[in-house]
Amino acid sequence: MEPFEKTILVTRPYFPPLEDFKKACEKIWQNQYLTNNGPVLREFQQRLADYLRMDVKNLDLFNNGTLALEVGLYALDLSGYDVITTPFTFVATAHAIKRIGANPVFADIDPENLCLDPAACEKLITPRTKAIVPVHVYGHPCDVDGFARLSEKYGVKIIYDAAHAFGVKLRDRSIAAYGDMSMFSFHPTKLFHSCEGGLLTFADSSLQAKLEQLRNFAILSETKCIDVGTNAKMNELQATMGNLCMNAVDRLIAYRRSIHETYEKAFARCENIRMVNPISGNTNITPDDFSRNDAYCPVLFKDFETREKVYKELKKYNVFARRYFYPLLTDFTPYLGGNETPVAKDAAARVLTLPTYDNLSLHDVEKIASIVKEIAGESK
Ligand SMILES: Cc1ncc(COP(=O)(O)O)c(C=O)c1O
Repeated sequence: MEPFEKTILVTRPYFPPLEDFKKACEKIWQNQYLTNNGPVLREFQQRLADYLRMDVKNLDLFNNGTLALEVGLYALDLSGYDVITTPFTFVATAHAIKRIGANPVFADIDPENLCLDPAACEKLITPRTKAIVPVHVYGHPCDVDGFARLSEKYGVKIIYDAAHAFGVKLRDRSIAAYGDMSMFSFHPTKLFHSCEGGLLTFADSSLQAKLEQLRNFAILSETKCIDVGTNAKMNELQATMGNLCMNAVDRLIAYRRSIHETYEKAFARCENIRMVNPISGNTNITPDDFSRNDAYCPVLFKDFETREKVYKELKKYNVFARRYFYPLLTDFTPYLGGNETPVAKDAAARVLTLPTYDNLSLHDVEKIASIVKEIAGESK
């Protein structure tokens, strides 16, 4: 097979039509407002509330997902406590916990959909545990019933890292409706973005005022600062990009479905390549309950050697897949020496995330899948 002439990355950002962006910027120039809760941000916030079918009082925008999570955890007074999370995630999840002065404790994941396993978390709950931060990894829904049970039994807060899960629905509600809080990342590598950005959704609308103070230094007036806040405000240009991406989001999700189906079909008869199942068999969630976003296309190979071979040799074809999530967070310097998490360790050794984005043609997806099969020694 011939290499691709163009570089195929694991993902590429969606760019709305430039003319639309220019036109939308005219509004900003007219408003003479660039940041600090401007009118475009408020419009974006309302559109998100409508899209997620939530009250606008139950969400807030930030300049990126990491700071959104950090501010959210801080607002819940978790500093000084243990917070259970997954090692199979992007490092920002644990950084947000650590940076507010809480202690991340790592629990193992579900072998099917690779999300944090409530049963593994329960074994690690102690009087010091005040919260759990599960990740809807790749947009796969966590066992929300299992985590709700832990919340009720032990009084722990559930804060979902939903960085990958924008547009996902569960039982006809947005995935944002589960737990005490959820964070969505609007980084351009995500299927929906605002150049950079983050969204917090929360069940308790009385948190909104506190979050808005914290994202603006916790300054209330010229002479009053009430807490150790930060600068985590989304600006008007980010909100403009968010509004324009909002116009395209359903189409973007639908197209990712076709890409996913193309890979699924190509790998259907492979013995040694399996697409990761978004729903775990260990939960009450059925395929009918779940409306997916196909944000990522993760596959598992039979062993580490095959995964490494495919990852490296794909580059010769100009295809840059990514090993999301390898290494585990417990292999990174700030988190060394965490609990043993054998399921996560095995997944990290075998997983590879294949390219998916708006401008990737299905013909190219078929070719990528054929190259992957050839390298992995799959003839079917
Ligand atoms: C699981 C996860 N959590 C948190 C983040 C951080 O989001 P952001 O890049 O918007 O700060 C990301 C991605 O970047 C992520 O993949």
